[in-house]
Amino acid sequence: MFLENKKIALAVTGSIAAYKAAEIVSLMVKEGAQVRVLMTPEAARFISPLTLKTLSRNPVISDLWSEDEGWVPGHIDVAGWADLFLVAPATAHMIACFANGLAPEVISCTYLATRAPVVIAPAMNCNMLDHPATQENLDRLRSRGNIIVEPAAGMLACGYEGRGKLAAPGEILEHVVNIIG
Ligand SMILES: Cc1cc2nc3c(=O)[nH]c(=O)nc-3n(C[C@H](O)[C@H](O)[C@H](O)COP(=O)(O)O)c2cc1C
Repeated sequence: MFLENKKIALAVTGSIAAYKAAEIVSLMVKEGAQVRVLMTPEAARFISPLTLKTLSRNPVISDLWSEDEGWVPGHIDVAGWADLFLVAPATAHMIACFANGLAPEVISCTYLATRAPVVIAPAMNCNMLDHPATQENLDRLRSRGNIIVEPAAGMLACGYEGRGKLAAPGEILEHVVNIIG
């Protein structure tokens, strides 16, 4: 097992590709990783928190304001716990939050609070990806040392053909293993 006892925070954002997070969690757990999932309310429209809770064997963190756990805020707790912070799929919106240091919800707060390596796997419509705003944001994240897993080209869920598909779960796993495995 390549990820024995490695601690991975997986952030899932509101892309149509969010259902693929289930396979990503499953692959990492099979490699021996401990996984804690964070998700935005938009991500929860695409995949059930119950699915990710069950596959990751841990409660899903989605509410910045939750009072369910101990005194340490959830985003600070998971930010300090993680050996690696993986964002898959990452929306244009979340990438913009990261690039600009905005922290309106639990995932962007965790991004700012963690000192773990960050791996970001974007997924979006090809025009959204190619837009100079998104490209400049991605360049900014690369320049900070964040790893961007390049999206694949092909037929997109929105009906367009081009670059923007979430990289294959196996390819995302390879990046994770290369960094902390
Ligand atoms: C059906 C549907 C599919 C979407 N897919 C994507 C996507 O793949 N990538 C993306 O960047 N935004 C996508 N969006 C837009 C995001 O859901 C929207 O920007 C949302 O505010 C993102 O929230 P979050 O980044 O906080 O999760 C989609 C919206 C809808 C309605």
